[in-house]
Amino acid sequence: MVTARLTIDPHFTVGPINRRLFGSFVEHLGRCVYDGLYEPGHPTADAEGFRQDVIDLVKELGVSTIRYPGGNFVSGFRWEDSVGPVGERPRRLDLAWHSTETNEVGLHEFSSWLEKVGSELMLAVNLGTRGTLEALDLLEYSNLPGGTALSQQRIDNGRTDAFGVKMWCLGNEMDGPWQLGHRSAEDYGTLASQTAKAMRQLDPSVELVACGSSSAHMPTFGEWERVVLSHTYDDVDYISCHAYYQEKNGDLGSFLASAVDMDHFIDSVVATADHVKAVLGSSKTVNISFDEWNVWYLDRYENVDKIEGIDNWPVAPRLLEDAYSVADAVVFGNLLISLLRHADRVTSASLAQLVNVIAPIMTEPGGPAWKQTTYFPFALTSRLATGDALDVKLEADSYETAVYGTVPLVDAVATHDTATGATSVFLVNRSQSEPATVTIDTAALGAVTVREAQTLADADTSAKNVLGDPERVGLSATEGIEVRDGGLTLTLPPVSWTAISLG
Ligand code: AHR
Repeated sequence: MVTARLTIDPHFTVGPINRRLFGSFVEHLGRCVYDGLYEPGHPTADAEGFRQDVIDLVKELGVSTIRYPGGNFVSGFRWEDSVGPVGERPRRLDLAWHSTETNEVGLHEFSSWLEKVGSELMLAVNLGTRGTLEALDLLEYSNLPGGTALSQQRIDNGRTDAFGVKMWCLGNEMDGPWQLGHRSAEDYGTLASQTAKAMRQLDPSVELVACGSSSAHMPTFGEWERVVLSHTYDDVDYISCHAYYQEKNGDLGSFLASAVDMDHFIDSVVATADHVKAVLGSSKTVNISFDEWNVWYLDRYENVDKIEGIDNWPVAPRLLEDAYSVADAVVFGNLLISLLRHADRVTSASLAQLVNVIAPIMTEPGGPAWKQTTYFPFALTSRLATGDALDVKLEADSYETAVYGTVPLVDAVATHDTATGATSVFLVNRSQSEPATVTIDTAALGAVTVREAQTLADADTSAKNVLGDPERVGLSATEGIEVRDGGLTLTLPPVSWTAISLG
């Protein structure tokens, strides 16, 4: 039996949880947009062609800000193609995903969809094959109330009020050799600084994200952040992090410890940003926008999905449609624990992505939409993690991993909301064979009752929700919680994720 102890004390505050931590990402990639959230012929489609079943699932998921329209896609994107009469919009090659972009859905349509799901727009500008002028044009089109050619064009295209977009990404993964217009840190830092200054001249209220590394395992990681921030520190609000995890070579033990890597990644970027702050003698703090994170079986994309051929540019092909297991969802829930643990510095994050493409929501053309295993930890964490994140002073048994060395078998974070009095705890048991008995000291909270407790686990950790069996995996009520004076005890099944709400 594995054992762990933790203490919940509302005084052990990490920082306030920004709702933007529960953001997501919609890229023009595969069937995320077309045949995903947009399918005019679908039985549930509304007058604008958006699937109502997907809208309902996105609302229930509890997604705050949605990054759009890429991703790698944005580095070849001409935003002007995606506005104006739909019938007149050009079909273009999408070099990033070897597809054809019809531009049937663009800024206006996506913004309308966001209003239906109640989420905020986060736009990325193309700093790969385009530059400062095109970014300024998009900002003027989006945010200027009126009185100029571009703002009038938006009004003529049916949108009287400005879109008022606050969050802007200055390009995407510019450190990656696969990126169209990939640059050195020096070149990107110079361009990002110029573009940020120009954008702020137009609209000082924007919040800007400079591209950090596309993974903590890039050869330029660390130095990239230092150089880029040396150029942009005064101009931006965030530096981005991107991280994807997958089980490799059957090493489930290391995979289950992926949050250790995410913790280290965040700590390293915080240290680098604060180093630049010290060198510049700045009083401002740059925070992290973790604007791509998930489990992603990238090897499957490289070996199976990849599209090639000069005569082969499909529209909305099936790409990156990973089906997620229970083990994947436990890792995923643990990544959310890591993000919450760093709520003082990670103040924005985007689950990549939202529909069909490495997504919590899957759809079939003309058919159903369903929840992947990863849907459950996201929805529950988004609903229960309010107020402040707390440091839980965790002590747990450990195990050896090939990739991350000695790692705790249990991981946890808690949140406390002074406005509602609610306290929540999120836990994982990484053991593949042993249940974990966890003792939680709640003395600092006074008398507590369990409002809600749900666990994701299955005897078959490879179980998935798929088209033929879309409800195979779900949450179940957490069993055997013993509440006593000053604390509670519970037993977590092997390879499991649990959320508890206390009142
Ligand atoms: O989310 C899929 C891809 O992963 C994005 O387009 C890119 O930014 C990242 O490499």
